[in-house]
Amino acid sequence: MKLGVLISGRGSNLQAIAAAIACGALPAEIALVLSNRPQAPGLEWARQQGLAICALPSAGREREDYDREAVARLRGAGVELVCLAGYMRLLSGYFVAAFPHRILNIHPSLLPAFPGLDAQQQALDYGVKFSGCTVHFVDDTLDGGPILLQAVVPVLDGDDAAALGARILEQEHRLYPAAIRLVARGAFRLQGRRVLGTNGG
Ligand code: GRF
Repeated sequence: MKLGVLISGRGSNLQAIAAAIACGALPAEIALVLSNRPQAPGLEWARQQGLAICALPSAGREREDYDREAVARLRGAGVELVCLAGYMRLLSGYFVAAFPHRILNIHPSLLPAFPGLDAQQQALDYGVKFSGCTVHFVDDTLDGGPILLQAVVPVLDGDDAAALGARILEQEHRLYPAAIRLVARGAFRLQGRRVLGTNGG
């Protein structure tokens, strides 16, 4: 399965996906890494790996106009599954419709708790005892599509957002390749909002 990985920053999930492919754990290929921020460290990492990259600055551009160009680039690269990995932009309806049930996102909380920015700090401020991460299908709501996989991470007394975020990130790096593998194998079925056949992943 040909992946398009969309990033805006560091790209550690991109690296985890690439590592899973390299060790044979994920039957997929990264066909394009696209960043809306040309300076994203993850884009430079991808370039050094010899991956196909696309820097497509989004600053000041109208959402759908931008998304039309992004979709064209992804299609041009033969992308079959879009993986948002720290991509800090809401997708337009146009983008979502272009890849029906073929867009995934990873979020550092147990959705639907704490969508949006600073999910780790939101979890600490609320006082939950467990947080974690979620891989979900993307629709045109913020962090709102059907949930594919989740992993639970306990919140410890001494945690700040950075410490909690680091432990969540370890789980993200395991969870995202596992979720992509499920989609690549077609090992799930959708029943309304419920994604069945994926638990235990
Ligand atoms: C991750 O915490 C992810 O859950 C969130 O953005 C962060 C991206 O990190 N959507 P990285 O760029 O993959 O290192």
